[in-house]
Amino acid sequence: EYPLIMFKIVNKEFFSENVVKLEIHAPRIAKARRAGHFVILKIGDKGERFPLTIAGADREKGTITLVVQKVGVSSRKLSALEVGDSITDLVGPLGQATHIQHKGTILACGGGVGVAPLLPIVEAYKKAGNRVITVIAARSKDLIILEDQIRSFSDELIVMTDDGSHGQKGLVTEGMEAAIAKEKIDEAIIIGPAVMMKFAALTTKKHNIPTMASLNTIMVDGTGMCGACRITVAGKTKFVCVDGPEFDAHEVDFDEMLLRLNGYKEIEKAAESNYLK
Ligand code: FES
Repeated sequence: EYPLIMFKIVNKEFFSENVVKLEIHAPRIAKARRAGHFVILKIGDKGERFPLTIAGADREKGTITLVVQKVGVSSRKLSALEVGDSITDLVGPLGQATHIQHKGTILACGGGVGVAPLLPIVEAYKKAGNRVITVIAARSKDLIILEDQIRSFSDELIVMTDDGSHGQKGLVTEGMEAAIAKEKIDEAIIIGPAVMMKFAALTTKKHNIPTMASLNTIMVDGTGMCGACRITVAGKTKFVCVDGPEFDAHEVDFDEMLLRLNGYKEIEKAAESNYLK
């Protein structure tokens, strides 16, 4: 029943220099996963445990796909694995699946690395019969990822860069405002760095658009035991790993989330420069 080597990488494809798609043999996860679910992985015995959204799955082949952008030590280690290598530890599917329904017109917004987990959600909304307007944003052209893949599931795509090196010059919120001005939006979903989500949520709140935020906190066990992923939603403590990753964006305390994430910034930066030496 159990194959000898689990979680073997069966395919690897570069979307760009820093973004890689991995297809991993994980039949039971492939069978159970739905859009919005994630896995927690560990590379090597002493690796840290970190979460990644499942980008897609092929039940017949028994594989799942993960899209990895090199942003720190663990994502670099994962991206360095080759076809035939195996992942030491892979747990999932975790979290609550996205509640995909036919709502009408969806505004999907992704910032930076948030575009990778946005992809399966955009695909699912499109397949559920919604009109999907997507806004993707990053600091500059080379940080815009998966543009073609996102476009293939979007009725309209707005690309924003801070420096204007690609798409339109401006922040994600300006792209959102442009879309909102043009037509009635029934629901929004936002994924990206905490600060981006904070302002994206303020934008949709101003226009009374129900909005979900998919949160990407630090995670350790992924089962609600360790408290690493703790956040406050509507004044109540929630765990992103079991209660999320999606929450009502207008109720999330993004300032608290930012404070907690920033607490690890220096350590993460030091670990990365050490790894790159
Ligand atoms: Fe430990 Fe969520 S990751 S409680």
